[in-house]
Amino acid sequence: MFKLAKPTLVAAAVAGSLVAGAVNAGEQFGLGRTATAEEIAGWDIDVRPDGMGLPVGSGSVLDGEGLYEAQCASCHGLFGEGEGRWPVLAGGQGTLADERPTKTVGSYWPYASTLYDYIYRAMPFPAPRSLTPDQTYAISAYVLYLNEIVDEDFVLTNENLADVKMPNEPNFFVDPRPDVANTRCMSDCADPAALQVTGSIGGVTPVGHFIEGADGPAASHDAQHELEKKMEMERLKELGVEVEEEEASSEPAALSEAAVAGEATYNMACVACHGAGIAGAPAVGDKAAWEARIARGMESMISNAINGYAGDNGVMPAKGGRADLSDEAVANAVAYMAESSQ
Ligand code: HEC
Ligand code: HEC
Repeated sequence: MFKLAKPTLVAAAVAGSLVAGAVNAGEQFGLGRTATAEEIAGWDIDVRPDGMGLPVGSGSVLDGEGLYEAQCASCHGLFGEGEGRWPVLAGGQGTLADERPTKTVGSYWPYASTLYDYIYRAMPFPAPRSLTPDQTYAISAYVLYLNEIVDEDFVLTNENLADVKMPNEPNFFVDPRPDVANTRCMSDCADPAALQVTGSIGGVTPVGHFIEGADGPAASHDAQHELEKKMEMERLKELGVEVEEEEASSEPAALSEAAVAGEATYNMACVACHGAGIAGAPAVGDKAAWEARIARGMESMISNAINGYAGDNGVMPAKGGRADLSDEAVANAVAYMAESSQ
């Protein structure tokens, strides 16, 4: 509860102190002027889980669909699946206990009020505060629909928003444990200077969106996930922690230098299609799918990968759609793919 309830409380507290500050400063120091009621109303937009703070209004899933597709889908995906590395808004139910949970509005958020508040306050990303309350109700309804929380004929209003039950709400509760477990030492205590505080493990911050050695951000959540998993294994190995290496051992023994260099690019820009063989792409590791291509020669494959082409199975976009990649990076990725598939 704390995590999501807090921003609302903090926002309210900040608004409160701003107002108080303005009044006092104006009177005491002759600075500024008292904020008007309209100015305060402009800032006072936070919404509570019980619906307090919601403006009067309504919007349907149906109206929300068009608005969402026009203003949100370019980043968050038509179905809330998240384009590229933009946040995922739908799905992920049942993944919270996984090593890499997919936290979305539907899988994680405890209250629908946060959805309304967040969208109205901060979205669309390039133009926050550009939506009317009715538009915000409609888009919120649509995001709830994408998460299968409401039906397609649902109309969200200031009256019924607090009644929308989010699937993960029961997992939010006030932590009853005390802040510290030990009783305070009052006499004969250890010398603070002699105490040494050590972390059990260093560098736990998740690896960022940009991967060392790659030309840019990962092209998909899956690719990023795989990369981070691999880097985490390497990091643990460096720390001397024993790690199981089922994946590494199933890889072909010796890759050429070019192939080794190409793996990161592959994971970033190619695996989305070539990992599982989507849309006719030959799957890496599928010998039969690569045999004839490899026999034709690296040169023709590299040129096809760089320039793109339409083959018998589908369309290979130039550089996998990543014009920012150098020719060399693509060639290396092809080497990695071919060598991993023979
Ligand atoms: C240009 C890209 C872009 C567009 C367009 C956009 N968003 Fe976002 N959205 C983001 C980014 C980036 C974040 C994360 C912001 C942050 O964490 O500070 C985000 C976060 C969100 C979140 C919170 C997700 C979470 O789990 O924390 C919601 C909900 C959301 N957007 C809804 C919308 C809606 C609804 C629209 C359309 C009205 C929209 N967004 C349009 C980029 C975009
Ligand atoms: C949007 C999906 C998609 C992405 C992303 C993609 N490919 Fe492909 N690729 C294809 C498809 C489909 C084919 C098969 C076309 C055919 O032969 O019918 C293909 C074929 C290939 C081939 C075989 C070429 C040949 O001559 O037989 C190579 C090599 C290749 N891709 C390399 C790459 C590389 C390198 C990347 C990343 C930089 C990449 N692809 C990203 C869809 C994709």
